[in-house]
Amino acid sequence: MEIMLHYRQPRNEFIMDILKLENKVAIVTGGASGIGAAVVAQFTDLGMKVVIADLDEDLGGKLEQKLVDKGKECFFHQLDVSKSDQVSTLVKTTLNRYQTIDILVNCAGVGGLSGYLDLIEEEWDWILDTNLKGTHLMCFAVGQIMVEKGVKGRIVNISSINDEIPVVGIAAYATSKAGISGLTRALALELAPYGINVNAIRPGTIVTPLMKEPLELPDLAQALIRQIPRGRFGHPKDVANVITFLVSDLGEWVTGAVIPVTGGMHLVGETSFYYFFERAMMHEDQLPDIPFCRPWKKFDLSKF
Ligand SMILES: NC(=O)c1ccc[n+]([C@@H]2O[C@H](COP(=O)([O-])OP(=O)(O)OC[C@H]3O[C@@H](n4cnc5c(N)ncnc54)[C@H](O)[C@@H]3O)[C@@H](O)[C@H]2O)c1
Repeated sequence: MEIMLHYRQPRNEFIMDILKLENKVAIVTGGASGIGAAVVAQFTDLGMKVVIADLDEDLGGKLEQKLVDKGKECFFHQLDVSKSDQVSTLVKTTLNRYQTIDILVNCAGVGGLSGYLDLIEEEWDWILDTNLKGTHLMCFAVGQIMVEKGVKGRIVNISSINDEIPVVGIAAYATSKAGISGLTRALALELAPYGINVNAIRPGTIVTPLMKEPLELPDLAQALIRQIPRGRFGHPKDVANVITFLVSDLGEWVTGAVIPVTGGMHLVGETSFYYFFERAMMHEDQLPDIPFCRPWKKFDLSKF
């Protein structure tokens, strides 16, 4: 008589088995804060070896300490992603420590708010250099290593809903994110023959330090939340979950995708400019004098 053995694996082991991420080596830029830190937390929880690559030494060092104390495998490396020599050093340091690079997640990013005609060259350069050039330099350096080593790697870039849907005051940011979406598709095509997948996430409004100022304004926060069909702001973990899917075995057949992770905000986004602007006009006098509000304060509202 045949004996059937019904062995149920513990759930964690089952998830680890289908994701196949244990011991994979990942670099996460912008890993010290917000979305990047959530990715680092999830990756280390899944048994990966993670490099927290960030400009912020204080935050990065503290995160490294916290995770190492919990027995996770990771280290912090300080760099400015817009500088090619610093990117090379990061790659060399990672290879010295872990011998390979399987996964790259480019979360380092900055945003500024200026009306287009007030946008100074330094602000344009800072945003484009960090977001677009930084993403390119990282993809370029890590892509070469993946090809050299025959690693069927995974790259995930962070674009934004603003790659296609602008709001007032973010011309440089929107340009950088449109560039990241374009770079992602072009790179996916070129690296596909090597078995390397390249994708991007287009987050909507996610509660992180980058969004701290706008979300502290109750009126504008309300205006934003009404544009999100799911009725809440996103959390960094919402984005990390999709990134984990993309870099895992489950994401094997996904490349060149630029995926909205927005709670549905991208569906109503075309009306956002007008709605947002209307709210700002109603409360123009009450807007505090902080960078987020200055574009609205400076515009001649009678022209719209
Ligand atoms: N929060 C949102 O609502 C939202 C929406 C869409 C897209 N995004 C994008 O998600 C990414 C992460 O943003 P976040 O909200 O987590 O912000 P965040 O400010 O919490 O994290 C960004 C991290 O990038 C690091 N960084 C900045 N410049 C750097 C440089 N030159 N070199 C290395 N590291 C640098 C910062 O030190 C910080 O740790 C960004 O690309 C952002 O544009 C965020």
